[in-house]
Amino acid sequence: MSEVVERWGSRRAFIIAVTGAAVGLGNIWRFPWMVGENGGSVFLLLYVAFVLLLGLPVMVAEILIGRAGRRTPMQALTFLACEAGGSRHWRLLGLLGGITLFLILSFYAVVSGWSLEYLVDAFSGDFASRSPEEIGAAFDAFLASPGRVIFNQTLFMVLTMAVVAFGVGSGLERLNNLLMPLLYLLLLVLVGYAATTTGFGTALNWLFWPDPRAISFMVVLNAMGHAFFTLAVGAGALMAYGAYMPEGQSVPRAVVTVALLDILVALLAGVAIFSIVFSQGMDPASGPGLMFVTLPVAFSQLPGGTLWLGSFFVLLLIATWTSSINLAEPMVAMLHSAGLHRVTSALLIGIGVWLVGIPSALSFSWLSEVQPISDMTFFDLATTVPTDILLPIGGLLIAFFAVWVMDAQRAVQALGSNERFFILWRQVTRWVAIPLLILVLMGAMF
Ligand code: PFF
Ligand code: NA
Repeated sequence: MSEVVERWGSRRAFIIAVTGAAVGLGNIWRFPWMVGENGGSVFLLLYVAFVLLLGLPVMVAEILIGRAGRRTPMQALTFLACEAGGSRHWRLLGLLGGITLFLILSFYAVVSGWSLEYLVDAFSGDFASRSPEEIGAAFDAFLASPGRVIFNQTLFMVLTMAVVAFGVGSGLERLNNLLMPLLYLLLLVLVGYAATTTGFGTALNWLFWPDPRAISFMVVLNAMGHAFFTLAVGAGALMAYGAYMPEGQSVPRAVVTVALLDILVALLAGVAIFSIVFSQGMDPASGPGLMFVTLPVAFSQLPGGTLWLGSFFVLLLIATWTSSINLAEPMVAMLHSAGLHRVTSALLIGIGVWLVGIPSALSFSWLSEVQPISDMTFFDLATTVPTDILLPIGGLLIAFFAVWVMDAQRAVQALGSNERFFILWRQVTRWVAIPLLILVLMGAMF
């Protein structure tokens, strides 16, 4: 278990990689779906609070561990634990992360497949002539056709694993970085269009004017899970990226940049989508299909709508792709470091994730009546358990490790920031983030 010697070529390269991991379906698909399902503003407020109070400190902890260990997550944890006189069993935390990433990628590929289908549909111009009802019905019909859903899921898995297997991730990240400003611009155009619709005021009010009646324990749990998910934190995925961080870069600065951008993208998507929802009289709580029904409606109202919609799905695909690579990379690195060839590792992980994703893919067709636990389909389970339970548990242990187990001197060094900031981060993590996490997780158990 030797140290890695490679480094990202520049400070920007690290921020680009982490942004690539963070910005994805979580912002544009999952965030609006969750806000809608959880009653609007209260969820949004809690999500922002959790990003700042939990997400940021844990993200710092995670990157710091990777950077101090300069190895794959499991090896880094073992090394740092042993060095500080702690237990070797901390490596199991790496394994927990691997399992979490595995489960997340299984449904991430299914939903990314939905957008692949839309990409083709968008350019074929089918959306322009359809009414909102027809667009909704067409989406349901697509989900109900197992062959098409699985075809797209498979295609997306192949795209992801090919990049991981042949190590061309950095090329894709540069492309991503080049194109993401266009995605943000498109979202801005959408928000501009949204401002002309009748639902705009309602959407703003519903999103930003907190209504305390909407609060419940489920809302709190969902908001916490989403904060981890959207930042790509809690499963060691960023630990793996931290290992390649160049010397002299400050972790906190990089992390704050990424988190703010991630919130901004989610807010833009949210304002655009809920303006459409309220002007068309749709139901905000219409579930995981929300984005797939509202955005085509919005784009089809714009002149040149086909081109807008098509470009949007191309950009979304690239954003999604860099996130799925980040999900897959640590698992492949783990197998690779155990002695398997990189391509073999990618193939094994890819096939495993694909197989486990099939029940999610079929949850809207053949398996729609199968509900293994309390009214939840396989898709419901895959989209909630890893995100709402496993990521926060992983995040809790990662934070605990960084502030109570790891050697403090090493942590200061790895932070790449001044001592005052180190102490601030450690106090917030010890006395705010960790207790808050325990509190919410305990609440989930009882
Ligand atoms: N952050 C990604 C998104 O918002 O789409 C999803 C994700 C990537 C979650 C990597 C977890 C992870 F480890
Ligand atoms: Na995100």
